[in-house]
Amino acid sequence: MRLAGHRGLAALAPENTLAGARLAALNHIGWVEFDVQLSADHVPVIIHDETVQRCSNGTQQVRQLSWQQLQELDFGSWFSPKFEAEKIPSLTQLLTVCRQYNLSLNLELKLYPQDDIQKLCEVVAQTIITQHFAPDRLIISSFEHEALRQIKRLLPNIRRGHLWDEIPDDWAEQLSQIDAFSVHCNYQKLDKVTAQAIKRLGYELYTYTPNDPTQVRQQWDWGVDMVISDQAHLYRISHF
Ligand code: G3P
Ligand code: MG
Repeated sequence: MRLAGHRGLAALAPENTLAGARLAALNHIGWVEFDVQLSADHVPVIIHDETVQRCSNGTQQVRQLSWQQLQELDFGSWFSPKFEAEKIPSLTQLLTVCRQYNLSLNLELKLYPQDDIQKLCEVVAQTIITQHFAPDRLIISSFEHEALRQIKRLLPNIRRGHLWDEIPDDWAEQLSQIDAFSVHCNYQKLDKVTAQAIKRLGYELYTYTPNDPTQVRQQWDWGVDMVISDQAHLYRISHF
C-alpha cells in the first residue's frame, strides 16, 4: 500500500504550500495530494477553501483575488511562525517542486458552486501540457463528474480519479463514463464489500483521510491501494 501526504503533508506544514511538498519528499513519501482553484485573473492556485480566511491573513474568496493580491498574503503563520514566508503556490510552482523532488502528484480540481468548471479544466490542462509534467507521475481527481469528463477530453493520457464522500450506488457506471483509473473516497464511509467490488473491476482504490495507525491498518486489510493522510510520515510501508 502506498501513502500520500494530504494537502502536502498537513500535519507537518501549512496545507497546500510548497513547504508541505518539500517536507513530504524529505520524509520519503512518494505521493502528495493538493487542491487547485483559479484566482480572479485565472491563475491556477493551490488552496482548499473557497475563501483565504482560514489559512492566511486575508478574508476574501479566492475567485475575487488576483494572483498579485494573493501573493501579498501570508499562508504560513496561522500554522506556525516558522512558516511565515509561505505564499500560496501557483500550479506551475507546485509542478516544478514535484519534479525537483521526484514527487508524484494527485491534483484535486476543487470546485465550488459558483466556479466555472470549463475554465478550471482548460487552464489546468494547458499548464500541465506547457510544463511537460510526466503523465506517469500525475492523477487528476475531483468530486465533480463533469470536470473529470472534460479532463478526459483535454488530457486523455492523464489518469482520472473519481472522488466521493460516500460511494454512490451507480459508481460502476460513473467510473466507466470517464474511463476512470481510481476511486478516492472517505475512509469512514467505505465498507469492505464495496472495496472488494471496486478492486474486482480493476480500479485502484484510495481513501482519505485516515490519520491513526488502526485506521490505516484496516484500509490495508481491505485492499486499499493508497491512503491519503495528513500524517503519512508516520505510516511507512514497513509498518504493514
Ligand atoms: O483528495 C482527497 C481529499 O483531499 C478530498 O477532500 O476536502 O480534503 O479536499 P478535501
Ligand atoms: Mg483535496
